[in-house]
Amino acid sequence: MVELSKNHGVYFFLIFLLLSLASQLSSARPSKELKPCKHIVLHMHGVIFNGSNLADATGAAVTSPVGLGNFFFGQVYVFDNPMTKDQNLLSPPMAQAQGFYFYHMKTNYSAWMAFTLVFNSTEHKGTIDVMGSNFIPAKTRNLSIVGGTGDFFMARGILEIETDAAIPYEYYQLKMNVKLYECY
Ligand SMILES: *[C@@H]1O[C@H](CO)[C@@H](O)[C@H](O)[C@H]1NC(C)=O
Ligand SMILES: *[C@@H]1O[C@H](CO)[C@@H](O)[C@H](O)[C@H]1NC(C)=O
Ligand SMILES: *[C@@H]1O[C@H](CO)[C@@H](O)[C@H](O)[C@H]1NC(C)=O
Ligand SMILES: *[C@@H]1O[C@H](CO)[C@@H](O)[C@H](O)[C@H]1NC(C)=O
Repeated sequence: MVELSKNHGVYFFLIFLLLSLASQLSSARPSKELKPCKHIVLHMHGVIFNGSNLADATGAAVTSPVGLGNFFFGQVYVFDNPMTKDQNLLSPPMAQAQGFYFYHMKTNYSAWMAFTLVFNSTEHKGTIDVMGSNFIPAKTRNLSIVGGTGDFFMARGILEIETDAAIPYEYYQLKMNVKLYECY
């Protein structure tokens, strides 16, 4: 009997320890008020290949839409787009955005994107990987930053996108706010 009550004490202590650990873990979870540890603003330029702009094109459709709805559903584009500090396509590129997107909604314009921001300048060397759904009608869209290398080792965060300009089948310019919430 004496042994048993001693054990009870140990159990209560262990439960107390677990509960306090659990509360510490939950308070360490990132809150919504977090400030980015790194914030870079760049403008991405896409010049779409139309059969005759070989020298200027930075991306191209690699499939046709499949005919399911009127919003390019199923059409895949591949791109290697320059990213500049200002809105001028001819400014020196700070990074390249390399990847693909496909239209994935029957009922509106939305591009599912996966790409790498490749930095190779004196300012930044490394990569940032981005993926997510880009619902084009929305003023701002958030894509996930899921990883990185080099200066952006183990990066995690949000890529906030806004459309600066868009000419169907020709050109689009997106303002990209790179916001990292994990930096090493
Ligand atoms: C292709 O795009 C270029 C601009 O990038 C434009 O000058 C040219 O007229 C276009 N060609 C066709 C066939 O649309
Ligand atoms: C696409 O989505 C936008 C924003 O939600 C909406 O205003 C618009 O009517 C939609 N377009 C169609 C064709 O449903
Ligand atoms: C980065 O730039 C350096 C120096 O200009 C060059 O030697 C290297 O090949 C570049 N790396 C990539 C991945 O483009
Ligand atoms: C994008 O993410 C930021 C940071 O989490 C947030 O403040 C903002 O409200 C989000 N915007 C949209 C349109 O979801």
